[in-house]
Amino acid sequence: MTDITAPIAVELRGITKRFPGVIANEDVNLEVRVGEIHALLGENGAGKSTLMSALCGLYQPDEGEILIRVDGSEHPQLALISSPRDAIELGIGMVYQHFKLVASQTVAENIILGLKGTPFKLKMKDVELRISELADQYHMPVDPQAYIWQLSVGEQQRVEILKLLYRGADILILDEPTAVLTPQESAELGKTMRQMAGEGKAIIFISHKLDEVVSFADTVTVLRDGKNVATVDVADKSKSDLARLMVGREVLFKADKEAPQLGQVVLKLERVEAENDKGLPALNGVSLEINGGEVLGVAGVAGNGQRELAEVITGLRPVTKGQVLFQGEDLTNKSPLTFIRKGVAHVPGDRLGMGLAGNLPISDNLIMKTYRQQPISKGPLLAKNAVEDYSKQVVKDFDVMTPSIDTPARNLSGGNQQKAILGREITSGEKVSGDVSALLVASYPTRGLDVGAIEAVRTSLLEQRAQGSAILLISEDLEELLTISDRIAVLHGGEVMGIVKPAEIDIEELGLMMAGERRQ
Ligand SMILES: Nc1ncnc2c1ncn2[C@@H]1O[C@H](COP(=O)(O)OP(=O)(O)O)[C@@H](O)[C@H]1O
Ligand SMILES: [Mg+2]
Repeated sequence: MTDITAPIAVELRGITKRFPGVIANEDVNLEVRVGEIHALLGENGAGKSTLMSALCGLYQPDEGEILIRVDGSEHPQLALISSPRDAIELGIGMVYQHFKLVASQTVAENIILGLKGTPFKLKMKDVELRISELADQYHMPVDPQAYIWQLSVGEQQRVEILKLLYRGADILILDEPTAVLTPQESAELGKTMRQMAGEGKAIIFISHKLDEVVSFADTVTVLRDGKNVATVDVADKSKSDLARLMVGREVLFKADKEAPQLGQVVLKLERVEAENDKGLPALNGVSLEINGGEVLGVAGVAGNGQRELAEVITGLRPVTKGQVLFQGEDLTNKSPLTFIRKGVAHVPGDRLGMGLAGNLPISDNLIMKTYRQQPISKGPLLAKNAVEDYSKQVVKDFDVMTPSIDTPARNLSGGNQQKAILGREITSGEKVSGDVSALLVASYPTRGLDVGAIEAVRTSLLEQRAQGSAILLISEDLEELLTISDRIAVLHGGEVMGIVKPAEIDIEELGLMMAGERRQ
């Protein structure tokens, strides 16, 4: 609960920030009190990061005022924050979604980086001692002499937080900090935030995850389409209340699912090894099987081999050792086109990079997989009417909101881009040859979507499953994995820690496996 008698630490009044073609923030107000954890909740693109960047001096708002409490004053005072340095001097610090640490330097070196006074004059021993004190005080164990590259992502995040504490920040902003953490690490972070608040700091916690907001925050301000729709006490609202505020309408959380009708083994990986883009081992002996009619979920903290896994089973990344068997046939290191022809559909994680050609019309994007096949092609030409009929049908079936099929893909919202990709991938087998895809590889298919689009995507996946497709679902949303999957494989450091059934595991145990604990 927020103590409404506590002084206001920061106040944003009528903040408006425009980018070409978008109003990222429109007349937003926010008031955060000393001792409070204030969540900023909103879907991707709602304007959360932009709003906080104004507070940190990264952007100048076009309109509005920022007031900050300084030196224990009773009321916050008008502040001019024209650079990050101004913000730091006012006691404002932010942990960004992408950390800003120097990998080749130590924890201590990173923490004093950019501080006034040359580092040489600071005695490194004293710096390290102070860091250790802070680390102890806030239960964030970290070795000040360790190099950043030696640390896990969770540890790097602690360094970012310690850096703010070292600088004496009173207003701490964390931008989607749990995206890179296991559930246990997230819970630890929740405790740290609580302690910092208890010691008189004001914490702004950005998230699009309802569970976290409910368990960590006192107060929540909901942003939708750049506007603030409400500020409420967390204790007064249920998860579905918050979802409704965030999305703007009623939201359902459950997907109806029938028992799986297992078919033949569609995909079999035998001790597959592969490297990441830097040439480092990314998959270390991954073995798994997926049957037709089954969803195999893949859980893991981002960067533990998920992407490489999706790529080796769609022909996009070479396998350095082991085998990829598809319907009994060895497809190891075959081309992406071979995988497509055999019936592998792929919904990539990077929608506008790999999934869609942003400059091309939706119709061209929809036929990317089928343009070589009849009736879309007619000899060497495209059959214009067939392209149009097919595109309109997909747009209709998958509820893609677009002014027309000629609209460039990049003009669609994230949710509609995703529905278009799913439509294409799911129907490319069906509409043309009458068969469903044998294997559908879906990487983070609901990431950043609004709740309505999430439902549509999940329903499509389950429909494919009911029709006998094998589905590999990579997701960062554990609730989603537990709801949709028939089995879940947990990846850690490029290895499978175990394959479990949702009914036989809870989020806690999944978290331990994500952190590297093996299970038989
Ligand atoms: N530097 C930028 N240039 C242009 N548009 C931007 C920029 N930063 C953000 N936007 C747009 O502003 C809106 C809000 O983005 P953002 O603040 O990042 O949202 P959130 O953090 O809630 O996901 C989005 O439509 C985004 O595309
Ligand atoms: Mg953001």
